[in-house]
Amino acid sequence: MKQLSIFLNGFRIDRAIGFVWLAAAKWTVVSIILLIAQTTATLSVLFIFKLIVDHLTNSSTDAIFNNLLVLIGIALGVTIIGNLCNALAGYTSTMQTHLVADHMQHLVQLKSIDLDLAYYENSQSYDKLHRAQREAPARPLRIIQSLTELGRNGLTLLGALALLLTFHWGVVVAVLVASLPVLVYRLKQADDLYRLHREKTASERLSGYFNQVITTATSAKEVRAFGFGPLMIHRFGELRSKIRASLQHLSAQGYRRQFITESAATLAGYGALAFVAHAAVRKSISLGEMVMYFGAFQVAVGSLRPTLSALAELYENNLFLSTLYEFLAVQKQVPEPVQPKEMPRPWQSGLRVENLGFRYPDTNRWVLDGITLTIHPGQIVALVGRNGSGKTTLTKLLCRLYDPDTGQISIDDIDLRDFKTADLRREISVIHQDFGRYHMTARENIMLGCPDIGSEDPAIVQAAQWADIHENLIRLPKGYETVMSRTFADGVELSIGQWQKLALARAFVRDSQLILLDEPTSSLDAAAEFEFFEKFREMAHGRSALIISHRFSTVRLADCIYVLDEGHLIEQGNHEDLMVLDGLYAHLYRQQASYYRDESQPTNVNK
Ligand SMILES: Nc1ncnc2c1ncn2[C@@H]1O[C@H](COP(=O)(O)OP(=O)(O)OP(=O)(O)O)[C@@H](O)[C@H]1O
Ligand SMILES: [Mg+2]
Repeated sequence: MKQLSIFLNGFRIDRAIGFVWLAAAKWTVVSIILLIAQTTATLSVLFIFKLIVDHLTNSSTDAIFNNLLVLIGIALGVTIIGNLCNALAGYTSTMQTHLVADHMQHLVQLKSIDLDLAYYENSQSYDKLHRAQREAPARPLRIIQSLTELGRNGLTLLGALALLLTFHWGVVVAVLVASLPVLVYRLKQADDLYRLHREKTASERLSGYFNQVITTATSAKEVRAFGFGPLMIHRFGELRSKIRASLQHLSAQGYRRQFITESAATLAGYGALAFVAHAAVRKSISLGEMVMYFGAFQVAVGSLRPTLSALAELYENNLFLSTLYEFLAVQKQVPEPVQPKEMPRPWQSGLRVENLGFRYPDTNRWVLDGITLTIHPGQIVALVGRNGSGKTTLTKLLCRLYDPDTGQISIDDIDLRDFKTADLRREISVIHQDFGRYHMTARENIMLGCPDIGSEDPAIVQAAQWADIHENLIRLPKGYETVMSRTFADGVELSIGQWQKLALARAFVRDSQLILLDEPTSSLDAAAEFEFFEKFREMAHGRSALIISHRFSTVRLADCIYVLDEGHLIEQGNHEDLMVLDGLYAHLYRQQASYYRDESQPTNVNK
């Protein structure tokens, strides 16, 4: 039953045809016309040959020779038209290939940007994405090619079988019955191959990862410094050889099955041929008819194999394309509201987090528990805590990259879940701890913070000035138009600190109501950091800000400081309040301050 359902699913090809139609309707119509023309040409030539032979055997005078020449001329013309159709079909297929591949990639890309962040933080999702990316571009067209092949060979086969039917139905039945095992085993082979690819997705991804470590700039320094390149190559090789061994086993089994079933079909075919020859000897058919039946027989056998192959490939391609359907069917876990509420502008009471609790999907640990805090309009709030205390997680929840498990986050008393995610995110300028470094021009790197503004908008230069990167940018070979990566022609490489400033500029270019900075100055030198926070209030321009930092010189400037520890808010207040409280904040602050004191007075340490 399971086999049957896979089988039937495998033959649901309407969606694949729909993709091809959407991507390349015009070329699809052309290819169908060419297909019909090609088939008509092949069968017409067969019929003309029958006329020629019958002419030769039935006529005795030389005058008939002229008619023969006409018939040969027609056969030649039809064959040349067939060749032309063949060449045009090749061109049509190339055009279809490009259009459909790009269309499919576009679909995968649209779905990829629509999915939740959670999708990208889960290994099974990556397997799904990997399979969809691998199969989506080529499979729909391969389905169409299989259909074309099926159409071309299937029509020719039907025509040839129809001719043979006029001779004897037994020949047709023999040819068809003998081909059934070939088909069944080809379908079984496709099933096994599909299952193997699914099982091996994680290994394939892992081997791809090792290859990436070996070949990309990101890890090139460490590969050389630590010399672990050979280890990565070894790991890659091990995985590949396991995958290869499974494929090899499956392939050997497939060819064995193919040989046995095809031999049986060939045997049946030759039996039918002998039957035709026997009839000719007994003179129950004319010589012309015998030539035609022999020809029809040859055409039938010649088109039977590609017809079966096309059927099997159709099944296989559609089975593999189901990985794309699986990917497209993934549901968002951060849903859009049915009746979205209007985003207030400006915020009146600001942002409030109430009794918030959160666990990452498929985990049991509460990463945030019972968090309550407020960020009033225009207020600069700092969030501090040890590594892993949940600071970055809170920023993800504020941007609604995840939804809380308990409690709520609201803006002016409206739950974040009631806003369209796009409306909410428009109000937040964020620099994540692992901010992006895009291999685009400096101008575009800043513009991405607000893609709707034109690349000539003065806000871009203004943001660069605020982030103190303007002077660096105008000194680059092509100024703001310089590409920010040496992996592309005429590109430059920035220092990490300069990248961080560029990311700050990207955050500032957006006219939002909340600035969310997760370790925004961790790579800045002390002078640059000091300057940045000196003018931060001016840049914030009345907007609210949440700054996460391990540097207490920065943190102490905030209006209010929240201290997170293992997912719990344990202290809050301004710097002076927290120092008086003498809790974790005061402890961490003093620890850092003493470190700086020791650094400045190294001789004291040795006393
Ligand atoms: N995508 C994720 N899936 C599961 N657990 C996660 C995920 N991201 C983070 N965690 C876990 O959540 C906890 C809090 O992580 P978070 O990144 O919020 O800490 P943080 O306070 O920002 O730390 P740091 O100061 O190092 O940046 C950590 O224990 C971490 O292992
Ligand atoms: Mg963090």
